[in-house]
Amino acid sequence: MAARDHRQLIAVADPAALARAAADRLMARIDANGGRIAICLTGGSSPKQLYALLATEAYRDRIPWKRVHWFIGDERFVPPTDPLNNMATARGIFLDRLAPPSNIHPIPTDAADPDESAERYARELKSFYGADRLDAARPLFDLVLMGMGPDGHTASIFPDYPALNETERWVVGVPKANVEPFVPRVTLTFPVLASCREMLFEVAGRDKRAILTRVLSGENLPAGRARSNGETVWLVAKTALPENFRGE
Ligand code: 6PG
Repeated sequence: MAARDHRQLIAVADPAALARAAADRLMARIDANGGRIAICLTGGSSPKQLYALLATEAYRDRIPWKRVHWFIGDERFVPPTDPLNNMATARGIFLDRLAPPSNIHPIPTDAADPDESAERYARELKSFYGADRLDAARPLFDLVLMGMGPDGHTASIFPDYPALNETERWVVGVPKANVEPFVPRVTLTFPVLASCREMLFEVAGRDKRAILTRVLSGENLPAGRARSNGETVWLVAKTALPENFRGE
């Protein structure tokens, strides 16, 4: 298998250990880059412990906040103050207290519709990157965080949705979600999410076991298709692992 197709799975004891392992990987990516750093956050419940950990003394004081830029891989098309808004969650837990406001890059949901929001965010990403086309030798992000939904979606790329096969556009509007909350979404596409040094999945909870079993068995599901052009790592808490899991 080519290096970029490879996916490394790391089993951890529980959600607390998962957050610590994710925070340590994030710090390693930050430490490896002496210049401008770009981290792409994710929504859902899984990363909340990680975000809280980054605000603790042990991590907060080691992060060069002025050099780190924070993006989001997908957004629910709701106002920035809505509790369902993914970036609002990250802002509330750690960003607003610690990151310079100009380093926080939310998906704009004050647009007329998800497509316009997607176009605006694509423009922002391209301007940050400094080019309209991604160069494999120069990843957009240092780290992309990902989660997996109960239907196998990741970011807001749902099974059998057109966003799954998008190869040109950087960001697309998704008129209808496959799972709760049933609000329109805006999502980065696979080629853009792949443009990173590391893509890091966080998966926890017994309710993820069935879908993780399907992904690991090679079923064609969005989360199973997501790969970084660099490293792809899945951090999985033991309760989410298939019962007879012996490693990939
Ligand atoms: C969203 C997400 C989504 C999420 C998964 C996992 O906006 O809902 O970005 O892709 O990561 O659905 O969600 P949980 O962590 O809540 O299980």
